[in-house]
Amino acid sequence: MLGNTAIAPALRAKLALPVLAGPMFLVSGPELVIASCKAGIGGSFPTLNARTPQILDEWLTRISAELDADAAPYAANLIVHHTNPRVEDDLALIVKHEVPLVIASVGNPARVVDDVKGYGGLVFADVASVKHARRAAEAGLDGLILLCAGSGGHTGWLNPFAFVNEVRKFFAGPLVLAGALSNGRAIHAAEEMGADFAYVGTPLIAASESMAEDDYRQMLIESCADDIELTAALTGMPANMLRKSIERSGFTPESSHSGAFHAEKGTENLRAWRDIWSAGQGVGEIQRIEATQDIVSRMAQEYRDARKASLERLSQG
Ligand SMILES: Cc1cc2nc3c(=O)[nH]c(=O)nc-3n(C[C@H](O)[C@H](O)[C@H](O)COP(=O)(O)O)c2cc1C
Repeated sequence: MLGNTAIAPALRAKLALPVLAGPMFLVSGPELVIASCKAGIGGSFPTLNARTPQILDEWLTRISAELDADAAPYAANLIVHHTNPRVEDDLALIVKHEVPLVIASVGNPARVVDDVKGYGGLVFADVASVKHARRAAEAGLDGLILLCAGSGGHTGWLNPFAFVNEVRKFFAGPLVLAGALSNGRAIHAAEEMGADFAYVGTPLIAASESMAEDDYRQMLIESCADDIELTAALTGMPANMLRKSIERSGFTPESSHSGAFHAEKGTENLRAWRDIWSAGQGVGEIQRIEATQDIVSRMAQEYRDARKASLERLSQG
């Protein structure tokens, strides 16, 4: 069995809720990270949201200065793929600021493990298949983030029950489950399924501290799970996108769930994330724009209620 069983309880002890915020391109910056950590969940952001390594250095300085020892730990998300020209620069800054948790995405995460473990940090990787989960566990990653069907951004496709069960056969370390975990009941259910933490993205786009534009937030409030279009047409990888933002840009999804678009014009100038917005299938839980603290407090209450209901069911036999 791979993985260290001591990590999840140690990390959980620093969190008010078993939740890590998912890093989101063009959405999560220092304000959201700081607000998340102060509210008691692990905040995170993609390093590429800072336009240059110099800005990243400033962000990391600010985040560390604003979070005291009681705050939840934060994470930087590093795209480790060889096509990211900033991998080495951003990694050097992560080491300089001793970022507590690094989330490695897209590519081989093994290259960052030694540097981050060298200062006592943790490295998690997000994975969408059992094969990649096994490879990451064998490379010595501390934790695995399982991207499942319905997740925002570049999504996974596996059913969460199947994915958690398979990975738990060989990995006993921290498992983070991603995909439409938008309320406290779902977070509790993720634990019951065998995960240690929920990875929450979409609900935090609507947080007042996110970098999202107001029109994006408003579209989230007006959308439900049926309004999420799974398509690889925009980035070459399967991603969940808000159908209304596709249509607003002059495109029409060919048919429900086909992933292809009709348009008079070409898609060349269309930029995913900037013009066409992403959200996961848990979008229906978003009712209003509110502070991260209020989102987390509501989830915490729902989580406590769900646990209580589970215990009552158990006590009734
Ligand atoms: C707008 C948006 C941008 C995202 N950008 C990234 C990213 O840059 N790096 C990354 O690892 N994941 C990214 N993700 C995925 C999230 O970190 C997370 O896996 C996902 O949002 C969790 O599922 P949920 O949205 O259903 O809560 C993004 C998700 C969204 C919605």
